[in-house]
Amino acid sequence: MIETKRWNLTSHAPSSGQEPADQAVLDASHMLQSGKTVAFPTETVYGLGADATNESAVQRIFTAKGRPADNPLIAHVATKDQLQNLVEELTPLADCLIEAFAPGPITFVLRSNGVCASNVTAGLSTVGIRMPAHPVAQRLLSTCDIPLAAPSANTSGKPSPTRADHVWADLYGRIDGLIDGGKTGVGLESTVVDCTGEIPVILRPGAITQDQIKAAWGSVMTDPALVATTSQPKAPGMKYTHYAPEVPLILASGTADFLQKQITAEQAQGKRVGLLATDHTAKDIHADRIYTLGDELPVVAQRLYDGLRLFKKSDVDVIFCETFPEEGIGLAIMNRLKKAADDNMNGFS
Ligand code: TXA
Ligand code: MG
Repeated sequence: MIETKRWNLTSHAPSSGQEPADQAVLDASHMLQSGKTVAFPTETVYGLGADATNESAVQRIFTAKGRPADNPLIAHVATKDQLQNLVEELTPLADCLIEAFAPGPITFVLRSNGVCASNVTAGLSTVGIRMPAHPVAQRLLSTCDIPLAAPSANTSGKPSPTRADHVWADLYGRIDGLIDGGKTGVGLESTVVDCTGEIPVILRPGAITQDQIKAAWGSVMTDPALVATTSQPKAPGMKYTHYAPEVPLILASGTADFLQKQITAEQAQGKRVGLLATDHTAKDIHADRIYTLGDELPVVAQRLYDGLRLFKKSDVDVIFCETFPEEGIGLAIMNRLKKAADDNMNGFS
């Protein structure tokens, strides 16, 4: 059991002088520089950071999360210069997407020059690199001045953390520190884009959409494995069961009436049913426990993981969740939901 230090930076307004907030970032930086693990907020989800150039520090991440060793980590940097230090070549494609979208919720896959430890890249010749926009992440990265390997700060297989309490629930006693920066903004993990070729290939959908990337570069492709389960995904992490709530999740398309019928049928068998749905849909439905997701897709994205984590075995036996249009960030929402449901889709009406 490791002693986990927790800092509160929920009001992270840029401050001047040696205020407590600065002291927290300094303390966390010292820990990271000495090979320890610290979880920190980004605008997507919380990350669990360690020195990306230090193999044994990176190993602590895999151990804390219980993460399979063949799943590579994303290296986080504060600046484009730091990004260039980690790659063989900044391709024109990567340069274009960095200008358009960084810092932000996007990860660039490029050829590694070997500066990152080999367990960061899980032995691949490429490395995923991200420049987060969150002010706490920015300050931490520029203060410690090392690239930080940081996967989502959850136990492997669970939904990613969008609040410090999610990290605490999963990793307390297994990591050295946690910076509480309040709720994350986007709520889903970054868009991962392979930038090694002529055309950007989306390996994992996220808040930076296919249309936005196409508008910036002129063309875009998606990894065929994102739509067909027959091919091997290029982002190794996409092949694992992910985002799994404690109880089974069923995705249900159709009208509120249709959804209510399915819920009532489960209840008739003695099951307690949880519902994840938009405010609009939820207002007409009776379930044993309801978590509402707002009505706009960006709000659904923000709230989704908190909702998936809310339902416990002690409260419900099954969760129903409505489906969303697969456009814009809806593509990322449905990608995560299908994995969380293990492709458990109920009839379309
Ligand atoms: O928003 C995010 O990306 C968050 C925050 C903390 O930055 N991080 C995150 O990391 O989601 P993680 O480890 O949970 O997911 C990283 C994904 C995995 O699917 C992994 O397989 C893929 O990125 N990935 C990393 N390096 C790669 C590489 N060189 N080639 C292909 N896929 C890679
Ligand atoms: Mg993850």
